[in-house]
Order: sequence, then C-alpha cells, then structure tokens
Amino acid sequence: MSNKSLVSITDYSKDDILRILKLTKKFDENPNRKLLEGKVCATLFFEPSTRTRLSFETAVNRLGGRIIGFSDAATTSSSKGETLKDTILMVSNYADIIIMRHHLEGAARYASEVSKVPIINAGDGANQHPTQTMLDIYSIYKTQGKLEDLTITVVGDLKYGRTVHSLIIGMSHFNPTFNFVAPEELRLPDYYKKFCDEKGIKYQEHIDFTPEVINNADILYMTRVQRERFTDLMEYEKVKNIYILKKDMIADTKDNLKILHPLPRVNEIQQDVDDSPKAYYFEQAKNGMFTREAVICDALNISIE
Ligand code: CP
Repeated sequence: MSNKSLVSITDYSKDDILRILKLTKKFDENPNRKLLEGKVCATLFFEPSTRTRLSFETAVNRLGGRIIGFSDAATTSSSKGETLKDTILMVSNYADIIIMRHHLEGAARYASEVSKVPIINAGDGANQHPTQTMLDIYSIYKTQGKLEDLTITVVGDLKYGRTVHSLIIGMSHFNPTFNFVAPEELRLPDYYKKFCDEKGIKYQEHIDFTPEVINNADILYMTRVQRERFTDLMEYEKVKNIYILKKDMIADTKDNLKILHPLPRVNEIQQDVDDSPKAYYFEQAKNGMFTREAVICDALNISIE
C-alpha cells in the first residue's frame, strides 16, 4: 500500500489499536478541534448508510475540514460505466482522504492500491468494516474498563456480518472467549474459525440462543440478518426472525453486561430492551464519531498536540 489506508482491521497491530483508542478518548473528551482546516475529505458511498457516513461527515465537520462526495452512486458517472479505478483516481486528485463503502468485497483494497491518498474502508460487502470494529472495541473498553479476558456472545448473521468478521480479528489481541450463535445457514465462515484456532482463541458455536450463552456474557453483540446479501429471498424469509432479544431474557445477566449492535436493527432487539441500562447500542453509535475523528487524523498523520 502506498499510503496510510485502513482497509482491514488487520492493517492495525495491537499497538495501533491501543493508540487509536487513546486518541478516541481525547476526542470523546473534546470532539471540536480544528485539526483538519484546509483538508478536503471525500465520502464515496456506493451502498446505503446512515451512521457510518453521517458520523464520518460529522467527525470532519467537528475537525474543521470540508466534505465532498455522494451517498447514491446512481447520481455519479459510475452509472454510465465509469470504473472504480477511474473514479478513485479522479477523486484522489480532489481530496486528501477517501472514505468509501462498496458492495464488492475487496473494493477498498483495490482502491487503496490505485489511490494517491489514504482510503478508509467504510464497509466492503460481507468482508470488513474496520472503523466499526474500532468503535466497538472503544465501546467495550469504555463499558468494561478493560479489553482482556472478556466473554463475547455474538448473535445472528455471522456469515454475511462484516462487523462480526472485523470484531473477531480486532479482539483477537485480548484473549476473548466467543460464543457464536447462528442458524446453520448463517454460520461463521470457516476462515474465521480457522483464524481463532490458529490464534488459540476459545469459541463455541451454538444454534440455540439459550439463557446460558446470554448469562455468561460480558458483551452480547446482536446483529441483523442482512436481507441485501441473500440471492434467494426464500432463504432470508426462513431465518429473518430467528433470534429476538426480549427484556425478560436479560433478567439474570451479569451486572457488567452491555448489549451492543452495529445497527441498523430490524426486530432482533425488542424496543423495550432500549430502556435497560445494559442496552448500549445508541451510545456505541455515538462513539463512532469520536473513533472516526481518531482514524482520520491517524491516516493523515495529524497529531492532536
Ligand atoms: N453500523 C453501520 O455500518 O451502520 P450504517 O449502515 O447505517 O452505516
């Protein structure tokens, strides 16, 4: 890679992750710092987004930078057949950094190989979502006071859930124990199980969402079944309502339990759970703004001092 892009969470070492967490804490304490004055940041969203795009754009605004970009690729020349390579070459003439979401796995890696400026992957298909992982890890640290030795129960679409894939790799530095809860059709891909095996990470796979996997967790990470990734919608219909977290299911959970969800949610967490002090998903999304301030400054080698 010719620049300081963030394409996969594997681009960050454990030290990088800890450094970004420290920086994120500073932005959490004071998000308004004029560190990006004179900089132009491009947000290229070829796939829909609410949180990721708006938190990146808020981060840039709070840092005094300017934004160009699009949230609907149909309004751009890619709809006329322009290649991703040409789009990235053009935008890297205009902007100092490119934040990109794309439906194709590997699109961000490819963009980073042709771009003259850093690429931040804001999600590529079912592959990776590294800035989501950094905000997830920050949320875990902020609520648990540590990252080491936690039990994390991950529930739902583990096949297509890119946030799950990145989280497993990101947390692998901190000796986690995972419970992977998914129906047969949405089981975690073998690649990630092999990764856990090679790293000596303890995990169990479950089909049933039992009281045991809920009650022994420090973090309960719920995910949405991703309709947009299914080629056969009948398959989606079979699994779309498979796991629904209800308030009575968290009655006997650990005091320190926090419920995370990358959002958007459909119906996998009932709305009455939102009132529980254990529900942390909206704060988690807010942490995304601070995390993305840190990631952008790091990619541009901008020091906070
Ligand atoms: N978590 C997440 O990526 O949300 P959006 O799709 O709304 O950006």
